[in-house]
Amino acid sequence: MRDVKISASLDCANYLALLEDVRKLERGGVDMLHIDVMDGVFVPNFAIGTNLLRKLRPMTHLPFDVHLMVVNPEPHFSLFAQLGADYITFHAEGNARLHHLALAVRRLGKKVGIALNPATDPEFLSYLLPYVDLVLCMTVDPGFVGQKFVPEVVAKVRRVREIACELGVDVDVAVDGGISEETVPLLKEAGANVFVAGTSSIFSGKEDLEVAARRFGEFCRRT
Ligand code: DX5
Ligand code: ZN
Repeated sequence: MRDVKISASLDCANYLALLEDVRKLERGGVDMLHIDVMDGVFVPNFAIGTNLLRKLRPMTHLPFDVHLMVVNPEPHFSLFAQLGADYITFHAEGNARLHHLALAVRRLGKKVGIALNPATDPEFLSYLLPYVDLVLCMTVDPGFVGQKFVPEVVAKVRRVREIACELGVDVDVAVDGGISEETVPLLKEAGANVFVAGTSSIFSGKEDLEVAARRFGEFCRRT
């Protein structure tokens, strides 16, 4: 199984002091920045604009893990590739041509992520996984920070890891939403290795962001 990685959810950062927060995340040893893109249609919310990403890209070496919560993501792939995305993750829901989308992301030289809402059955991955680098199992319905973790997704994470083993492919299995010291042990045991850190962990506001990021990273690695 792949190494444990922490992807810090940028939408949970302090936008009024964003660069300061990014420096703290770097010093705290996070592995990438999770960038939630919302179009107000796929999810009833809006998030992270392209100008912000354009300004941020030259300021940090942290990889951009872009999570597109948008309908019809394909026309936007090249834009996010130009903005410096390293992973481009799109949702399975509402997209019929998943091989086509995966290949479109690969053609741009980016890592392919496929996201599944909590109620989405993962069995189709048996046919798709060789074209995918990361499976993002949503542990809340996407759209808002600070939601309640959906425990049924633990079994799905296990099934996704099982499918990967059956096919002999090594993918990152990421989890997003309500990821905390309470939920990480269950998810890691089930086979998750990428943890999206939001308000339930490093951005709780209870401790300094750098300290929290370092502590949470160590927790996820040793659990
Ligand atoms: C949910 C977002 C998550 C969220 C995670 O739509 O995709 O990235 O920010 O943060 P918490 O820990 O607040 O659930
Ligand atoms: Zn996300």
